[in-house]
Amino acid sequence: MADALHSKDAAGLRPLIDGFGRRIDYLRVSVTDRCDFRCVYCMSEHMTFLPKADVLSLEEIDRLASAFVRRGVRKLRLTGGEPLVRRGIIDLVRSLSRHLESGAIDELTLTTNGSQLARYAADLAAAGVRRLNVSLDTLDPDRFAHITRWGRLPQVLDGIAAATAAGLHVKINMVALRGINDDEIEAMLRWCGAAGHDLVLIETMPLGEVEEDRTDRYLPLSQVRGDLERRWTLEPIALSTGGPARYVRIRETGQRLGFITPLTHNFCESCNRVRLTATGTLYMCLGQDDAADLRAIIRATESDAALDAALDAAMVRKPKGHDFRIDRRAAAPAVTRHMSLTGG
Ligand code: 5AD
Ligand code: SF4
Repeated sequence: MADALHSKDAAGLRPLIDGFGRRIDYLRVSVTDRCDFRCVYCMSEHMTFLPKADVLSLEEIDRLASAFVRRGVRKLRLTGGEPLVRRGIIDLVRSLSRHLESGAIDELTLTTNGSQLARYAADLAAAGVRRLNVSLDTLDPDRFAHITRWGRLPQVLDGIAAATAAGLHVKINMVALRGINDDEIEAMLRWCGAAGHDLVLIETMPLGEVEEDRTDRYLPLSQVRGDLERRWTLEPIALSTGGPARYVRIRETGQRLGFITPLTHNFCESCNRVRLTATGTLYMCLGQDDAADLRAIIRATESDAALDAALDAAMVRKPKGHDFRIDRRAAAPAVTRHMSLTGG
């Protein structure tokens, strides 16, 4: 392993390789833990957010993300909370897009709830963003209001339309929730097919305290897949977008459908990513608590050598896999951090 850690590749860079030989080339960056929605499976209604002084400046985010790019990261995803509620977000996207122009990265993308897209879609496209993941769990306005608590469906649909008009490819993320939207999966599939969006279904993960009991809402996607297979022809395809989704093509429509199944299928063996929070804490795994404080390092020194050493040390600690279980007997969620802190 030491050889892999210290050898340089053809471009002269020292790639980030973890203790299990996995190459880390994907960084997700949470630019804020705040959000203008309060989705029932994600947040508590009364969330306490991070003090502003703890949150990285846009310059600090740029410096950290760029350090990862120098170490061979080829895909950056900005997340939150809701990334588009962070003031100055477009300036950050424009600045990071220099790595697209230089060819250092292949993709700069965002995961968003869509609420601010009508305002920002054109700016994002102009800055070189090509694809967005938009979270949308239902097409029913009342259900949408119930699930997101603070969101309104028309605003998000307008945002998605604006993104499409700006030439952005939109992938819809739908968290499958038993008794809430499980009767809508086919409707969503048709809607996405007609609009040209890929659809990715996600199992609810035990991250952070919320009011609801997630056990009641947990819907194994193996079951959804079985149901769909009775009515559609699902053809496995080898598509890999660098994320954890496994894709099939629906033969009847030609459309792609992805499944993210952290609970029914452990996808860790091919994990290529790490996550940076808005406070500069690097989590090597969404499902584990081990972390490295990169903010302390960049605030202490201008030198990139210390940062590089911290990245190497962090890689060695990346765990083999997460240990999610949805367990009625467990009093607390598997991980106490909310998804909005770590970044989706
Ligand atoms: N389990 C599963 N998905 C979640 N998301 C947020 N919190 C959870 C959770 N606890 C989803 C959002 C978004 C994506 C980044 O993660 O809906 O689509
Ligand atoms: Fe906000 Fe996304 Fe969490 Fe919903 S799931 S509260 S939109 S961060």
